[in-house]
Amino acid sequence: MTDEKQTARRSQAWFGASGRSGMLYRSWMRNQGFGHEVFDGRPVIGIATSASELAPCNTHLTGVAEAVKRGVWQAGGFPLQFPTMATGETLMRPTAMLYRNLMAMEVEELVRANPLDGVVLLSGCDKTTPAMLMGAASVDLPALMVTGGPMLNGKYRGEEVGSGTHVWKFEEDLKTSRMTQEECFFAEGCMARSAGHCMTMGTASTMACMAEALGMQLPGSATWPAVDSRRMETAQAAGRRIVQMVHEELRPSHILTREAFENAIRTNAAIGGSTNAIIHLTALAGRVGVELAPEDFDALARAVPTLVNLMPSGKYLMEDFCYAGGLPAVLGELLRGGMLHGEQITVTGRGIAENVADAERIGPEVITGLEAPFQPAGTGTAVLRGNLCPDGAVIKQSAASPRLLTHRGPARVFDSPESYHAVCDDPDLDVDEDTVLVIRNAGPKGYPGMPEVSNVPLPTKLLKAGVTDMVRICDGRMSGTGYGTVVLHVAPEAAVGGPLALVRDGDPVVLDTPNRTLRLDVDDAELERRRAAWTPPAPQHTSGYAWLYTQHVEQADRGADFGFLRGCRGFGVPRESH
Ligand code: FES
Ligand code: MG
Repeated sequence: MTDEKQTARRSQAWFGASGRSGMLYRSWMRNQGFGHEVFDGRPVIGIATSASELAPCNTHLTGVAEAVKRGVWQAGGFPLQFPTMATGETLMRPTAMLYRNLMAMEVEELVRANPLDGVVLLSGCDKTTPAMLMGAASVDLPALMVTGGPMLNGKYRGEEVGSGTHVWKFEEDLKTSRMTQEECFFAEGCMARSAGHCMTMGTASTMACMAEALGMQLPGSATWPAVDSRRMETAQAAGRRIVQMVHEELRPSHILTREAFENAIRTNAAIGGSTNAIIHLTALAGRVGVELAPEDFDALARAVPTLVNLMPSGKYLMEDFCYAGGLPAVLGELLRGGMLHGEQITVTGRGIAENVADAERIGPEVITGLEAPFQPAGTGTAVLRGNLCPDGAVIKQSAASPRLLTHRGPARVFDSPESYHAVCDDPDLDVDEDTVLVIRNAGPKGYPGMPEVSNVPLPTKLLKAGVTDMVRICDGRMSGTGYGTVVLHVAPEAAVGGPLALVRDGDPVVLDTPNRTLRLDVDDAELERRRAAWTPPAPQHTSGYAWLYTQHVEQADRGADFGFLRGCRGFGVPRESH
C-alpha cells in the first residue's frame, strides 16, 4: 500500500511545468486539437484499452473507450486513450498466459511513465482483466475497470451454444460422427454471434465478476452484453466516476484489501467460476501485499453454495445471467447469508452492501437463492495436498463426475500434451476407464506459460465405448469453459522436479477429494530413488522473453507471477526526460 498523498495533481508535473519542459509536454499534445485549457490542473485520466483485432473478445473496446471519454469530459476531466497489448486467448501461442505478466508490466509502466492522475482499464478476454488489475495495483493510482461484456448467447439449431464449452462437445460429436464437418463449420459461426468475450462462466466472465466483487468495477458492470447499449452507459458512468475517484484519492490499495479478496473468493464459489481465478487472484493479491494460500480458496468457499446456473457447470449463459439480475443479485444473496464483508469499500466510494441494496433476483432459475441453490455448498473447487502435490493442486468438483471424485487407478504417463495427442486416437492404446491420465511438463516453467491443456480429450476408443469421463492430472491449467474430472495446477510442477516428474506407468494414483488428498501409492524410498535419478529437462529458451519468463515465474500456488513484480512500486513522478 502506498500512503503518499498527491500534494499537487500528478499530471501537473508535466502539463503545469514552466519553461522548455512544459512547452515540450504541452505543445505536442496540442497537435490533437486540444486547447490550452486542458492543462489547467483538471484530472488527467488514462483510458487503457486492450482493443486488438488479434484478440477478438476485445476488439469492440475502442467503442467502449469513446463512451468512457464522454464521461470523463462530463465530469471535468481530461481523457487520454492509449493502447496496451492484448493477451487474446484464442490465437496466442504457446498460451496467452505466457504474456499475462508482460501485459501487467506494460500497463504498470505506461501508467507510471505518463502524466496520468487516474486510469480506466478496458479488458475482456481472460488474461487481460487480471493483467490490467495487477499492473494498476502495482502503481496504485485511482483505477476503475470496465470489462467489455460477454457475447450474446450462442444459438445453433434451436440450442443454446456456449463459447468454449461447446467446442469440447462439438469435437466429441465430430469424432463420434454425430456431426459432419460442414455442420461444424456452420456451428462455429453460431457460437460467436456478436462482439464480446466468452458468454459461458469461463475465465473472462469469471474475472469480470471478480473485478466487480473486488470492488474494482461499477455494480452491474460485469454482465451487460458487449452489444447492449447499457454497456456503453456503464462505461460512460465509469468515465464520470474515475474523475471523482481522483478527487477523493480512492486508490486500489484502499479497495483491494484482504476482505475484498475474501469477498471475491466467496463470489467465485457462488457463480461457479473458473479455476483460473485462483491463479489470477493469488497473483493480484501478491501485488497488494495480501497473502493468499491455496487453502484459503477451499476454506472460504466451502460454505458457499453455487447459486448461478451457468455453463460449463450448468445450463444458462451470461446474457441470461444479466437479465436475471446480474452479479449484484448474487452479491445481495451472499450478503443476506452473511457471507460477504459488506462494508468493504469499492470504486463507488461506498461499501459493497450499499452498492447492491436494491439488487433483485429477477430470474430465480438462473440465479438461485440460498435456500434452494443450484448446487449445494461444498461442491466447488477443492484444494488437494499429498505426496503428488506438496504445494497444492485444485479440482473443480462441479465440473467433475461425482463418482470419480474418489478414485484409485493406474497412471498412464505422458511427458507432454503432444505425446498424448499423438496416440489418443489409437484403438490399441493401453488405457481403460479406470486409468488416470497424467499429463506433465505443462506448468509455468515447463511449457512455458502453464497453458489450458489439462482437460485432454478422452481416448477415442473409450469415447466410442461410451465412456464420458476419466481422471486426468496435470501441472497445467484448464479453460474456465472446460469440464471433466481433472486435477489442475499441480505444484511444484514436473519441470522443476515436482513429484509429478517421478510418476511411472502403472503407479497407483489415489484421488480422495472429500479428504482433499492426491497421492501416489508408491513408497517413499522408491520415490527417493527415482528423484536421485531425475534430471531436469533441457531449457527450451536461452534468450528472449520466454527465457526471462522461465527465470522468474513462480509456481501455481503463488499465482505464477514474476517474483520481481510482487508488491507495489507506487506512482511517484519519474525524473525529467529532457
Ligand atoms: Fe476470449 Fe474466451 S476466448 S474470453
Ligand atoms: Mg478461456
